[in-house]
Amino acid sequence: MQGNIQTRLATLDLAHIWHPCTQMKDHERLPIIPIKKAKGIYLYDFNDRGYIDCVSSWWVNLFGHCNDYINAAVKSQLDNLEHVILAGFSHEPIITLSKRLCEMLPQPLNKCFYADNGSSAIEVALKMSFHYFRNLKENRNLFLSLSNSYHGETIGTLSVGDVSLYKETYASILLKTLRTDVPTTQFGDYANALETLETKLKEHGEKICAFILEPLIQCAGNMHMYNKEYIKEAVKLCKKYGIQIIFDEIAVGFGRTGSMFALEQCDVVPDYLCLSKGISGGYMPLSVVITSDSIYDVFYAPYSTYKAFLHSHSYTGNTLACAAANAVLDIFQHDNIIEKNKHLSLFMQKEFEVLRESHRVMNMRICGMVVAFEVMTEKERPNILIFEEGLKRGLLLRPLGNTIYFMPPYIITQDSISYVVKSLKEIIELLQE
Ligand SMILES: Cc1ncc(COP(=O)(O)O)c(C=O)c1O
Repeated sequence: MQGNIQTRLATLDLAHIWHPCTQMKDHERLPIIPIKKAKGIYLYDFNDRGYIDCVSSWWVNLFGHCNDYINAAVKSQLDNLEHVILAGFSHEPIITLSKRLCEMLPQPLNKCFYADNGSSAIEVALKMSFHYFRNLKENRNLFLSLSNSYHGETIGTLSVGDVSLYKETYASILLKTLRTDVPTTQFGDYANALETLETKLKEHGEKICAFILEPLIQCAGNMHMYNKEYIKEAVKLCKKYGIQIIFDEIAVGFGRTGSMFALEQCDVVPDYLCLSKGISGGYMPLSVVITSDSIYDVFYAPYSTYKAFLHSHSYTGNTLACAAANAVLDIFQHDNIIEKNKHLSLFMQKEFEVLRESHRVMNMRICGMVVAFEVMTEKERPNILIFEEGLKRGLLLRPLGNTIYFMPPYIITQDSISYVVKSLKEIIELLQE
């Protein structure tokens, strides 16, 4: 009976839903998995089968599903105010959240502009940077980004991205942008990458509004981890040309890289910091671009001078999402999460070490609460195979090509980490056959 519900829902789903990031034809063979409920690191289907959420449901979940504390905060908010237009009106959760975020960040990051998803935050930052120079009567209309970068899948964000899987199809309708090489390693030499940047800047520096980058980890770019020293030096070079800096911490913000924000490790204060995903603990869509008063002031004028910065979404700064975000910040504070994650990260590093024994495993790397490695195999579409084998073992894994990564909610236990590693070992062995 229960099994029938699972199958019936899966069939109905395929009749009416076109899923993201999916070749739907694959689901002629692969069943869609309707999820009935979730608790902590586990998702449960209608057969009560549990799956460990090894990818934090697309890198958004920080403190587990149906977290009691966040649930209570959202429920309590729900009885007072669910949503209100953010133009001309405001609400307490967003005011509290903005103050708290600005207090956590280095000066002069002091002004929050909200949207409702990661791509929109990037669009905001790009437009704001372009508009800033326009208001100053400086003619800059190019953006610079790193090779292998991913900033979203709207037309604007694809234009600054570089992952061909998403970008190639739309190349002819994208904005003209510039690309410079990302350093190839996490700890190695980055002189060549800096040299390429310098050449680009000499040629185009005065035309560039902003340099946009994902600090420390290019997540959708196969979890590429690169040298943080490069970031510091690259920012210095850009500053010589008056170029603004956009940090896309949509995936890495809120503790993923080991510090609350990756910027702390890079020792850089960007002009725009873009946050989303973990901000609401994985509960609701929310994003924010945090910038400085000095940038804000360039837009602050009588309407006849500069009409305003116009970028609005209906659900911008949703009240329930902000209530969830405040609860997330409470948990960070009360439970000393960044310190606890240091121990968890060390444990992950130690456990994953065993996988290196397989000659198929290459480039094992870790940064905070993200572990990744490549698995060398002749098998076609290894990501699908690994996904299926993961399901059999009660794991939700979503490899990027042949890159397997583990990016769990921070509440995962050591025992569960060991179970994931043991299962991965079995899966990698299967890939050798
Ligand atoms: C670094 C980065 N920027 C932007 C985005 C886009 O965010 P969203 O999927 O919420 O539009 C993502 C999504 O994975 C991301 O990883």
